[in-house]
Amino acid sequence: MILADTSTNAPQQKAHATATQGTPVAVTTAETTGRQAVEVRNLEVFYGQHKAVHNVSLSVKHQEVTAFIGPSGCGKSTILRCFNRMNDLVRHCRVQGSVKIHGADIYARGTDVMELRKRTGMVFQKPNPFPKSIHENVAYPLRIHGVRGKAVIAEKVEKSLRLAGLWEEVKDRLHASALSLSGGQQQRLCIARAIAVDPDVLLMDEPCSALDPIATKTIESLINELSKSITIVIVTHNMHQAVRVAHQTAFFYMGNLVEAGPTDKMFHNPEQHQTLAYVTGQFG
Ligand SMILES: Nc1ncnc2c1ncn2[C@@H]1O[C@H](COP(=O)(O)OP(=O)(O)OP(=O)(O)O)[C@@H](O)[C@H]1O
Ligand SMILES: [Mg+2]
Repeated sequence: MILADTSTNAPQQKAHATATQGTPVAVTTAETTGRQAVEVRNLEVFYGQHKAVHNVSLSVKHQEVTAFIGPSGCGKSTILRCFNRMNDLVRHCRVQGSVKIHGADIYARGTDVMELRKRTGMVFQKPNPFPKSIHENVAYPLRIHGVRGKAVIAEKVEKSLRLAGLWEEVKDRLHASALSLSGGQQQRLCIARAIAVDPDVLLMDEPCSALDPIATKTIESLINELSKSITIVIVTHNMHQAVRVAHQTAFFYMGNLVEAGPTDKMFHNPEQHQTLAYVTGQFG
């Protein structure tokens, strides 16, 4: 099965390149250089003695959606977590190589990691709202990042909840517990919380895997909308979802970047047999 109908997908991009295992290749052409949100060069990640990511180089384009696909254990989450230094929190995890976000080396000495995580927000597979009210879930990170004034905060909370497509459903119960929301609503609340602090990049690790098709559709529409102003990297096991939401797709296998490029090309005419085999469901 080759996934067809990418006609509803956002405009496909021109950049394309391939990598054989272990060979670092950027996924951009000179034409697009300068519009990269994330630039990864020679990334290697170790958990103790185990090397989970092998010499990965890729670029994520500004204000586009990039999907990371590949079989379980191939390193998608590990790479994603390097983009906001969440791996710093994992014991025995060592990162080599360079990751730049909008040109700044995020592993450089003196990087303000809290500021980095504000600018590079993250949404996880399982919604993880704070055990606080709906309002507080969005207001709290604003206060942590120095936003003051009840009215200013209330306005930002509303704006974020509207952007996340949740406002109409919760506007009459903002002070109810976030835990009283459904799974899909909780995930949208987590997205509202992440976007409230105006990130440049949003990292989403399988954000719909615990959701039903209707909630998934809502989140996918939201991703399309948000990508007009934010760069999004989404990890997904759902090939249809990658086709629906992503401008670019990167395929990983056993810690290597096999190939990356415009989603349409990756699903219909990839450079590597392995990519075609994976996207057509022949392995993984
Ligand atoms: N905290 C950790 N400690 C030790 N090894 C880890 C840790 N996290 C991941 N790994 C290992 O690193 C490799 C890549 O894991 P990762 O979670 O990045 O894969 P993934 O592609 O996200 O998989 P999945 O699709 O199942 O989420 C795997 O071999 C995994 O066992
Ligand atoms: Mg993962």
